[in-house]
Amino acid sequence: MANEKKTVAVLYGGKSTEYEISLLTAFSVINAMDRNKYDILPVHIQQDGRWIAGEVLKDKLADKSQLLLGDNPALENQAEHWLAPSAKTTGTKRPDIIFPLLHGPNGEDGTVQGLFELLNIAYVGSGVAGSAAGMDKVMMKDVFAAHDIPGPDYLSVAKYDWEQDAPTIIQQIKELIGYPCFIKPANCGSSVGISRCVSETDVSAAINEAFRFDTKVIIEEQVNGREVEIGVIGNHKLAVSVPGEIKTHSADFYDYQSKYQDGKSTLIIPAELDEKVLAELEDVAKKAFRALNLSGLARCDVFIREKDQRVLLNEVNTMPGFTQYSMFPLLWKHTGLPYDQLIEKLIELGLERHADKQTIQYRINP
Ligand SMILES: Nc1ncnc2c1ncn2[C@@H]1O[C@H](COP(=O)(O)OP(=O)(O)O)[C@@H](O)[C@H]1O
Ligand SMILES: [Mg+2]
Repeated sequence: MANEKKTVAVLYGGKSTEYEISLLTAFSVINAMDRNKYDILPVHIQQDGRWIAGEVLKDKLADKSQLLLGDNPALENQAEHWLAPSAKTTGTKRPDIIFPLLHGPNGEDGTVQGLFELLNIAYVGSGVAGSAAGMDKVMMKDVFAAHDIPGPDYLSVAKYDWEQDAPTIIQQIKELIGYPCFIKPANCGSSVGISRCVSETDVSAAINEAFRFDTKVIIEEQVNGREVEIGVIGNHKLAVSVPGEIKTHSADFYDYQSKYQDGKSTLIIPAELDEKVLAELEDVAKKAFRALNLSGLARCDVFIREKDQRVLLNEVNTMPGFTQYSMFPLLWKHTGLPYDQLIEKLIELGLERHADKQTIQYRINP
């Protein structure tokens, strides 16, 4: 029955540099979920990668520390039970849907989504391929380029090649990208490992810094302009939110500090854009969503280039920041979809996608 109370397993934490952010998100989402509609089962993925499931939550959380489920062997077994039911555990209730509130590698990159697929449990957000492509900045930009979605010029560098012949790579940066440029780990998030380089002097240090977080690095031309973000939700029919603009006051760019720590960035919602630019932005966002084969939700981050007002796609986030004060929920709030309803909508979309997939046939002759 459609109105039956659903069990939602909320996954948070994770083996990622964005562990802490995930906890903030989980606290915010869990407390906004309607307990008359959902039984909420918290699942803490510790930083060492171990999964600890709690009991269904009865009350609102008073403090984030309640999410830090730890070293309780009984609880640890519970996670196993619903994840991989066996003869021994028959009858253990599995969740109706999993809400992975995980950012970055091992959560937003298709790995955990692969597990959900194998278990055939519904989940919120994009599938394996979309999540993986959305996490890897090089793969993502290669797909965008194949779909003629404009973005900054970029160059991909493998750690092995850098170690073999750094001078050639430095020469390529000079010829193909120029300065200033941005150097980023291919798979990361929250601006971790990212540097802006103004000249060749600081490029080696920046590349080495990025290689601390990944074995592949992307180097991009600097785009001068405004930073604007827009939300997309849907599976088949896509809806876009109002746009939002980020103004960073203290730093060179929207770095980790300005995102989470010093509050020195301002979100302007809705962003003031010309009609033509807005139409281009909405079009780019939907195209990017489809090009990467995404489902559920995404936040598309673009630059509006100063010199010609063109929309250049920077990246797509398949699990954007999701606290009540994060850009993505705020964009939807301004579009008329408040936080609790947004969460509900995403759960519905996850269930819808799962139902669609149940029609797939796995035998040639049924
Ligand atoms: N090519 C670029 N031109 C100008 N600014 C950039 C460029 N790439 C990144 N930035 C700045 O760095 C920030 C973080 O980069 P981004 O690619 O969005 O990484 P993350 O996935 O960590 O958010 C952006 O929000 C922007 O402020
Ligand atoms: Mg970003």
